[in-house]
Amino acid sequence: MAAEQTATLGMLQCRISLLPISITLLSFLSCSSSSTENRIQLDKSDCWTGAGEWQIPVDTGGFQIRYGHELVVHTAKYLGPRGSVARITNGMNCQNCHLDAGTKPWGNNYGSVASTYPLFRNRSGSIESIDKRITDCFQRSLHARAIDSNSQEVKAIKAYILWLGKEVPKGKKVKGSGIMDLPMMDRAADPEKGKAIYLTQCARCHGKNGAGQKDSIGFEYIYPPLWGPDSYTTGAGMYRLSRLAGFIKNNMPHPIDYHKTLISNSEAWDLAAYINSQPRPGYDISSDWPNKKSKPFDYPFGPYADSFNERQHKFGPWTWVDKKY
Ligand code: HEC
Ligand code: HEC
Repeated sequence: MAAEQTATLGMLQCRISLLPISITLLSFLSCSSSSTENRIQLDKSDCWTGAGEWQIPVDTGGFQIRYGHELVVHTAKYLGPRGSVARITNGMNCQNCHLDAGTKPWGNNYGSVASTYPLFRNRSGSIESIDKRITDCFQRSLHARAIDSNSQEVKAIKAYILWLGKEVPKGKKVKGSGIMDLPMMDRAADPEKGKAIYLTQCARCHGKNGAGQKDSIGFEYIYPPLWGPDSYTTGAGMYRLSRLAGFIKNNMPHPIDYHKTLISNSEAWDLAAYINSQPRPGYDISSDWPNKKSKPFDYPFGPYADSFNERQHKFGPWTWVDKKY
């Protein structure tokens, strides 16, 4: 009898102690329909959104991740023209284009990098590691001389990007990562129309001359340059109209996001056409896109596998492309 009671009691205790676990399990499952994605942070429209700096672990691994975060946010402080580690870049920060340290939905974030790299990329015609992709943006977007992929800095940025994307299942591209593909226009993008919008919507921060504005001590940009000697090169992703237009639409004028945009799609294409018609540093693209058939529709440099010229590739209308590119 006494033994029976203990058993019942024991079972009761067991039930009670299980209760909180089942509640946690239930709320855990109701966050997302797919159980493999339970720990991915999503915004109200189910777009991936990156973890904040405060979530970086406080251990030795966390130290490197935190340095990577710091480098993405304040690249110029360490590697810019007055940098404390090396003076090799144009003074831009990674975050100028990878907003909120690469965590913002449709803000050119790093959500799908850890899950999709190493990745075959047509631009180089080879399988690229994350390190290669980081040094690529250093050279093409930050116009960096000799960036060492074995340096502490590249390793730290890689550790940060891997940490940001660690919950994304291998091979998966999450919603809201990178830059949105905007619907195409039926006409060519028009730099003249873009200029008029630029002067009313953008020049107050980026300057009439596109040169941006540095802070009072001249270390970092408050408003980064959009063209001129310190801007991204002709070999950068932003030099393709679709990348620049998609970025502008969902993120500019700063600090809007994709939930409430101010620029229409056609305005974004025209702005991109204006900005990418201005002078900027050149880049040796002679070994890019070894297979010319794989060139993106808006890649502005020939030779092409089709009969359309550089101007039509750069500005459109991209009549030969499936509208859902
Ligand atoms: C001038 C803007 C600009 C700057 C500055 C910049 N990037 Fe990028 N980055 C891009 C664009 C554009 C892409 C391609 C996005 C696309 O095609 O969807 C890209 C892509 C990447 C990717 C691959 C993303 C993916 O999902 O495949 C990584 C990684 C990356 N950049 C790292 C960096 C790092 C690290 C820095 C700083 C050293 C940096 N970038 C600075 C514009 C920039
Ligand atoms: C209120 C000031 C402000 C306005 C207005 C503004 N921007 Fe920006 N823009 C910024 C800031 C700040 C950043 C960098 C964000 C960061 O580092 O977090 C930025 C970044 C950019 C970038 C990527 C970095 C680069 O320099 O290449 C582009 C492209 C851009 N803006 C285009 C535009 C366009 C086009 C407009 C007009 C529709 C516009 N911006 C209006 C403040 C502004």
